[in-house]
Amino acid sequence: MQKKLNKIARDTNFFLKNFIKKQKKSELITPMKYGLFSGGKKIRSKILIDIGLLFKLDYKSLIMIGSAVECIHAYSLIHDDLPCMDDDSIRRGKPSTHIKFGESTAVLAGNSLLTMAFEILSHKHLNLSEKIKIDLINKISESSGHLGIAGGQYLDLSFEHRKISKNKIVEMEIKKTGKLFSFCCAAPLIVKKKKKKEIKEFEDIGADIGLLFQVADDLIDYKGDSLTAGKKTGKDKKKGKATLISLLGHKNTIKYANKLILKINNKLKKYGSKSNNLSETLDYILNRNK
Ligand code: IPE
Ligand code: IPE
Ligand code: MG
Ligand code: MG
Ligand code: MG
Repeated sequence: MQKKLNKIARDTNFFLKNFIKKQKKSELITPMKYGLFSGGKKIRSKILIDIGLLFKLDYKSLIMIGSAVECIHAYSLIHDDLPCMDDDSIRRGKPSTHIKFGESTAVLAGNSLLTMAFEILSHKHLNLSEKIKIDLINKISESSGHLGIAGGQYLDLSFEHRKISKNKIVEMEIKKTGKLFSFCCAAPLIVKKKKKKEIKEFEDIGADIGLLFQVADDLIDYKGDSLTAGKKTGKDKKKGKATLISLLGHKNTIKYANKLILKINNKLKKYGSKSNNLSETLDYILNRNK
């Protein structure tokens, strides 16, 4: 699994480095690269590739679409660490972008990474029809805005130090993290011009995978070690974050996560052994320690 992730990370970083190199220079390039290339598991790209192979997409297009996703993910982390959000000074074992370059630069580098995703998806080197590109950009925009990452981050912050119901916590986690995974699961079907109903099925699978990913991240914060995680742990409790752990307890949250894996695997059953890669990724997501 780690080998597969490493290859995806190498190929994604190679594409992104060349993409940036071909653009004109600017002062924001250095902080943007810092946010993009300072590590990162590339798990969203892995999910995109697992699903892409299920539908026989070519690897090059998947790496390009995944690169756009990783730009948005990197932006979301830069902003997530800002003092007005989670106020975290360590990310991926290094000083957070705003610690290294200052707050205003971090905000602007984050914004520029968000828009770079749209540049990649609309680029002439992405060998897809204009209609498909527009559909991809439409879906990734929805995943990032008020119904996705931004909206979920808003809920995450507004839920601090409050008693929040399970449904509301799940809604928040699906928005802030799940929606980008929904995009990863839907994108291959959008490229293959599948019917709306089937695309929606995969968006729902993606939301569950993203929820699983965020629950596992919350478990790492609860139990994990800062050095291994590459970020401070034990912070969710201090900040009064509403998580399933704070509501249900540690043991029940692990049960919840295992049930989620069963639910997702059930939906994948009809794809037979072709979905083995994806199932392996799900186990990695829950059992990882960073
Ligand atoms: C961390 O995401 C933020 C969450 C959405 C939980 P990742 O754990 O994917 O971060 P990197 O890219 O691997 O550092
Ligand atoms: C972040 O969730 C979700 C994003 C969309 C950025 P967290 O705030 O739990 O992520 P970490 O723990 O700081 O990586
Ligand atoms: Mg946060
Ligand atoms: Mg955070
Ligand atoms: Mg966290």
